[in-house]
Amino acid sequence: MIRKLAVLTAAAVMAVTSFSVSAQTAQTAQERAIQYRQGVMKAQGWHAGNMAAQIRGTKPYEKEDFARSATFLAQLMHMSWDGFGPGTDKGAPTKAKPEIWTDNAKFKAAADNAIKATATLAQAAAGGNMDTIKAAFGEVGKACKGCHDDFQAK
Ligand code: HEC
Repeated sequence: MIRKLAVLTAAAVMAVTSFSVSAQTAQTAQERAIQYRQGVMKAQGWHAGNMAAQIRGTKPYEKEDFARSATFLAQLMHMSWDGFGPGTDKGAPTKAKPEIWTDNAKFKAAADNAIKATATLAQAAAGGNMDTIKAAFGEVGKACKGCHDDFQAK
């Protein structure tokens, strides 16, 4: 009896394990999209943070390093939108608000605004004039915050 129970328990453990393995590999399309857009946003945060540190002076300003982050940020700003397709309002933990899909024109306008602001920052960063950079960085900050205020849950 005890032996039989042990075998059953082992089989149950194996069933659970193989289920969780297949659940990990067979991600849903929604999960992949949500994790993709969050990954791009995280990368944006990384490069915005690198620039913010140099503007605040907590890290010494280095023209090349700053311009590299500005260029990456401008490129990243084109990328996350693929991950906000129809039906990706749920399916994995997300802070994306439903308004992204119900008021998609406003969301797209906020995205375009950020694309322009980051392109301007990349130009300013290549020039290396700190006053111009600071003004452009301020506009980028507003563009990120504007969209997060409207479309990212707290
Ligand atoms: C047009 C809208 C929009 C713009 C512009 C935007 N974001 Fe986001 N961001 C979002 C949304 C929506 C989420 C929530 C995504 C989710 O949870 O699925 C988010 C999430 C994030 C996150 C959290 C990612 C995570 O899951 O850990 C970071 C970091 C972030 N954004 C950084 C930025 C930065 C930096 C900028 C500007 C340079 C920016 N975002 C511009 C809409 C935007």
